[in-house]
Amino acid sequence: MSENASRKILVTSALPYANGSIHLGHMVEYVQSDIWVRFQKMQGHTVHYVCADDTHGTPIMLRAEKEGITPEELIGRVHTEHYADFSDFLIEFDNYYSTNSEENRELSSRIYRELKANDKIATRTIEQYYDPVKNMFLPDRFIKGECPKCHAKDQYGDSCEVCGTTYSPTELINPYSAVSGATPVRKETEHYFFKLSECEEFLKQWTRSGTLQAEAANKMGEWFGSGLSDWDISRDAPYFGFEIPDAPGKYFYVWLDAPIGYMASFKNLSDRIGLDFDEYWKADSKTELYHFIGKDILYFHALFWPATLQYSGYRTPTKVFAHGFLTVNGEKMSKSRGTFITARSYLEHVKNPEYLRYYYAAKLNGTMEDIDLSLDDFIARVNSDLVGKYINIASRTAGFISKRFDSKLAAIADNAVINELRTAADAIRTSLESRDSGRALREIMALADKANGYVAENAPWEMAKQAGREDELHQVCSASLEMFRLLTLYLKPVLPGLSTAIEDFLNINPLTWGDIDLPLSAGHIIKPYQHLVTRIDPKQVEAMVEANKESLQQQAGTVSAAPATQDASAEEGEYISIDDFTKVDLRIARIANAEHVEGAEKLLKLTLDIGEEKTRQVFAGIKSAYDPETLKGRLTVMVANLAPRKMKFGLSEGMVLAASDERGGPFILSPDSGAQAGMRVK
Ligand code: 2FM
Ligand code: ZN
Repeated sequence: MSENASRKILVTSALPYANGSIHLGHMVEYVQSDIWVRFQKMQGHTVHYVCADDTHGTPIMLRAEKEGITPEELIGRVHTEHYADFSDFLIEFDNYYSTNSEENRELSSRIYRELKANDKIATRTIEQYYDPVKNMFLPDRFIKGECPKCHAKDQYGDSCEVCGTTYSPTELINPYSAVSGATPVRKETEHYFFKLSECEEFLKQWTRSGTLQAEAANKMGEWFGSGLSDWDISRDAPYFGFEIPDAPGKYFYVWLDAPIGYMASFKNLSDRIGLDFDEYWKADSKTELYHFIGKDILYFHALFWPATLQYSGYRTPTKVFAHGFLTVNGEKMSKSRGTFITARSYLEHVKNPEYLRYYYAAKLNGTMEDIDLSLDDFIARVNSDLVGKYINIASRTAGFISKRFDSKLAAIADNAVINELRTAADAIRTSLESRDSGRALREIMALADKANGYVAENAPWEMAKQAGREDELHQVCSASLEMFRLLTLYLKPVLPGLSTAIEDFLNINPLTWGDIDLPLSAGHIIKPYQHLVTRIDPKQVEAMVEANKESLQQQAGTVSAAPATQDASAEEGEYISIDDFTKVDLRIARIANAEHVEGAEKLLKLTLDIGEEKTRQVFAGIKSAYDPETLKGRLTVMVANLAPRKMKFGLSEGMVLAASDERGGPFILSPDSGAQAGMRVK
């Protein structure tokens, strides 16, 4: 295909989970894809850029339950927030939809039926951990326990955050449910599998056909080396998602319907604006399909997704573009350091989204390398490049055109710098096409240096003081503004808002790539120059970091099943917040009864009165220190809202507080006289 022929392109960015805020880590991807889309649109190609919220799965179901709302209410609220964050960062989706849509339900069912008809679905009975209190199967991230290797406590069911070992949840020592605290039991259930093992030949050929970056293709080599396992695509009720056709109580695993959400968002757009859905998705489609993703979800996009499409009769992606993670000041984003920064908080403090767009663009190079947001470098680079180099060209020349020449431009004579700026177009286009925006911006800033050199050498402010140099002054300022126009055109995909303001000031139509050869003409009238960009004040950045330190307290304690890679949950725990503390319902309890438990070495069975109608039964490990008779009628302190735990001897409905260490104990706590059963301890 010739580079200039008009192309039909469908672009997606990964669908963010509908249970958390957009943060600056997410933004890397949306900025990268938005720049690419805007660049392609400026080339005159037909581009549709779609995304959606990823709304299904256990974490979203539990989060809604915790907030006391329905999952639909939660995802509705989050959709509004996400959409506002993206719009305010000038991410211009053609459609921002939801995976919880009718289009997605239909497409997911259709694809599943096709896979089944092609003998790519199998059912198998598996054994999984089950929470007997919540009556639900537990995903790995919702089982916690002691690491089998280093014995760190409270590790997730899939990997240890202390020593990095990965294991299966059944290997955890003393596992417990992160949902209720109960000890999980193993239970059999029938699951549906996509027979990925049968897709190996197709996937080998697909991944080697130039669809992936070199680093990603190498990674795939490793995965093929260890053999592909069939993919478990079902989950048992209760689950927030789509029920599998003809399989009551079984739901599609969120990762089955999430990428189909790309299609569903496009389907919704097609129906709305009259596009031919099949033209983009049929097996022999001539259109192009690109997925921008983070490197952590490569497995889903380079294995499951193309295989799903291939064996259900649809086209496969043209290319998958993976990027690396974001570090801030050279380290993993951190809530305690205040570098886990939400998109909203950036907007509140730094205000201008284009500073971050510019900085990310300067760092991105089309590979899977991580990129670093060094906050000092961010301030320095934005101030020096955008204000010091780029805007400076207009701010030093535009005033003369308005004041001395009735806002009219001169006929611009042949000019070596302008020629150089124009000749650079192909190189800049090549860099942007290959997502090497870092290289494009280096080229553009080198051109801005040349333009500034031209202004400095000719010093229009000196000409303005000298009689008889009017024509020269007119020429230099007009040529400088033509240079400024060309730089604006090149920067437009990165700085769309600023470009629009500049198009208005230059009084020209929206710039497209074709306008490179259409210079500002003699007699063209510009509008008065107004201040276009301000410098970043380091205090704004400091305030943003401070504000995000505070928000640790508001956010701590949430159960997160987001990919561990860009998630700060591992970091929580140095302090608990006042909110965490108030979550613990401590009550004065009267020990109504205490008795030995047959067969239990350490436990006493306590019946506790906390002023409610029903007493609580608690098993307490205090047998070595107390004769049950002496406890009857005593007051103590209990945790009243601990999730009930099924123990060998019965249900334990709370916990009494007792002190102990190597010096002795346990000693149960007693309040001063006057305290009454049921009083809150706070
Ligand atoms: O990793 C994530 O954040 C997922 N919500 C991305 C889904 S992308 C697509 F496949 F839907
Ligand atoms: Zn460990």
